[in-house]
Amino acid sequence: IPGALVDRFGRVARDLRVSLTDRCTLRCSYCMPPEGLDWLPTEQTLTDAEVSRLCRIGVERLGIRTIRFTGGEPLLRRGLESIVAEAASLRTDQGVTPELALTTNGLGLARRAQALADAGLTRVNVSLDTPDAEHYARITHRDRLPDVLAGIAAAQRAGLTPVKVNAVLLRGVNDTDAPALLDFCLDAGVQLRFIEQMPIGPLEAWRRGRLITADDILALLGRTHRLSPAPVDDPHAPARLWHVNGDPARTVGIIASVSAPFCEACDRTRLTADGQLRSCLFSTGETDLRGPLRAGADDAALARAWQDAMWAKPAAHGLDSAEFATPSRTMSRIGG
Ligand code: GTP
Ligand code: 5AD
Ligand code: SF4
Repeated sequence: IPGALVDRFGRVARDLRVSLTDRCTLRCSYCMPPEGLDWLPTEQTLTDAEVSRLCRIGVERLGIRTIRFTGGEPLLRRGLESIVAEAASLRTDQGVTPELALTTNGLGLARRAQALADAGLTRVNVSLDTPDAEHYARITHRDRLPDVLAGIAAAQRAGLTPVKVNAVLLRGVNDTDAPALLDFCLDAGVQLRFIEQMPIGPLEAWRRGRLITADDILALLGRTHRLSPAPVDDPHAPARLWHVNGDPARTVGIIASVSAPFCEACDRTRLTADGQLRSCLFSTGETDLRGPLRAGADDAALARAWQDAMWAKPAAHGLDSAEFATPSRTMSRIGG
């Protein structure tokens, strides 16, 4: 397909994930150490104009139809509203505005949800691992549960829907909160998705034998809720959905990246905050776009470099095999 991001295995990437910063307002134990990381220096971080240019190349030349802004915490980026507005002025190969989504921890979202919606943001996914304030503080090292709840409510009022909630379960910390979290999300009218913990945070935070798998999650929820498999509507969606108590309007999702990888259906391409392309969340290599961009490369050359990077995308990440090699970057430096 000319003008598209295709790989050797015939997958087409139409979903671009752009990390806007590696910094974060939380310190989720599965993602980064309590003391934080060595943050990227500002001069290595793409400027708003550089981000917007790469988004434009992706949408106008390479068939991107969805852009998701991630972090770290993307709300830390002052120019987020204007980056969103720039992206909202683009038109896809189908002649429509790209879908513009945000993955956030929700801190500060209450104040900015309406402005983001006005700028053209379509929807948000908010990370929330438990409705229990004490457990929340234990996982994130910050006592900020009320801010997250206010952020979710504001996003709904602003029409950034469907709001989705992402949750990671940690054995002995918040695993038994899963049914309460589901009830909270069903009552609030947001779609909950549990994500299997991936070995992409601090090394000591992940042990295969301690992993709460999709099967474990189904068993945990099955004690209080009756779940039945929902039909697959989007073959590229990472989450498998389940109907709760037979009601198709009430669903819960599970993203089983470890126990049931979905690489063959992957339609993603990723750009890090420092301008590196990753063809996979777990790539061990990257393609530098910032260097050529700052050296004066034209749009066609950048598009070609992007296509070459995606052509080399590996078939699968191998998370389900014992020989899996962890990538050189951790989650907050990739954007999930
Ligand atoms: P939707 O369009 O709402 O489905 O967004 P999303 O689920 O792609 O975005 P979000 O940022 O909420 O991602 C949730 C989680 O899904 C990520 O943090 C990852 O844990 C997982 N995920 C997303 N993309 C990939 C991927 O390419 N591979 C794997 N293994 N997991 C992914
Ligand atoms: N495993 C699974 N999910 C993770 N996230 C962050 N680190 C990990 C990990 N090691 C989740 C966050 C957020 C999303 C972008 O990724 O909770 O919801
Ligand atoms: Fe921040 Fe998200 Fe990492 Fe938590 S998982 S520390 S919210 S980047």
